[in-house]
Amino acid sequence: MNLRGLLLCVCIAFLLMSCQSSEPEVRWALVIHGGAGGIDRDRMTPEVQNAYHQALASALAAGEEVLRAGGPALDAVTEAIQVMEDSPLFNAGRGAVFTHEGRNELDASIMVGSGLDAGAVAGVTTVKNPILAARAVMERSPHVMLSGQGADQFASEQGLETVTPDYFYTERRWKDLQQVLQGGSEVAEISENGDWKFGTVGAVALDLDGNLVAGTSTGGMTNKRWGRIGDSPVIGAGTYAANDACAVSATGHGEYFIRRTVARDICARVEFLGEDLKTAAAQVVGEQLVAMGGSGGIIAVNRAGDMVMEFNSKGMFRGSVNSAQAAQTAMFKD
Ligand code: GLY
Repeated sequence: MNLRGLLLCVCIAFLLMSCQSSEPEVRWALVIHGGAGGIDRDRMTPEVQNAYHQALASALAAGEEVLRAGGPALDAVTEAIQVMEDSPLFNAGRGAVFTHEGRNELDASIMVGSGLDAGAVAGVTTVKNPILAARAVMERSPHVMLSGQGADQFASEQGLETVTPDYFYTERRWKDLQQVLQGGSEVAEISENGDWKFGTVGAVALDLDGNLVAGTSTGGMTNKRWGRIGDSPVIGAGTYAANDACAVSATGHGEYFIRRTVARDICARVEFLGEDLKTAAAQVVGEQLVAMGGSGGIIAVNRAGDMVMEFNSKGMFRGSVNSAQAAQTAMFKD
């Protein structure tokens, strides 16, 4: 072989090697959760498992359609969460848990990582999709968080769809309240099978422009009272997004997530300690929260498209999809 032939062979070998070693580039990504807690394979019928997989797949598909077409992460997160809010399976929107007084008081928040814009609503009772109200607060008010009657009024003035309280009624959640009231415990989120569960929903996304967004929506905890508000509408606790760090949405026992500033802490570890996203999430959820007794989990994504789903409970309803990988849904630890 002459020198030219040799050089050609070396070039071809180099090209082949670099093709084999390079991972497909992740250009957009979406991760969702539908709550964490005592989600146990042995205690869920195949039909119930299937219903959750289907609902998660529908939420992923709604967000994926936006991202695949080059749309903003903000729309993808909103669309995915709306699907879960409209499903009676999740503790958000239509399937929300009941307060001590037998009402449904809903919380939601959203944050955009490019400019750190954020919006949240707490204790709303008439807006059909609280995530849209949170988005409206961010986009159409000078504030970050509105609560109670004022938040409902704002949502209605913005032309968002409103419903009567019976829209949020589901027999299963009503029975959960009766069970907690009879048991005499203070607050609880009870699953399908009477086990503890934190059924908040959330989504995080990376879009083609490199922007990160996080959103979270919940009915809170069964038997909550006195206007109790959890972590979901609290920016930095249940939701956080910063383009130079990550986007996080949490689900779990809000009182712990607020004190641990879970979502912000994960992003801060990435930003200031230089930890990779998985390590940061494992530290906060698997170590720090556990040490405090806080149960739940998080989903997260960064600009490289790394997707993390971390929980310290038995299971977490979850799903992910990106430009290099088809949609996947899961609920148990394995
Ligand atoms: N993570 C939902 C709540 O505590 O309200």
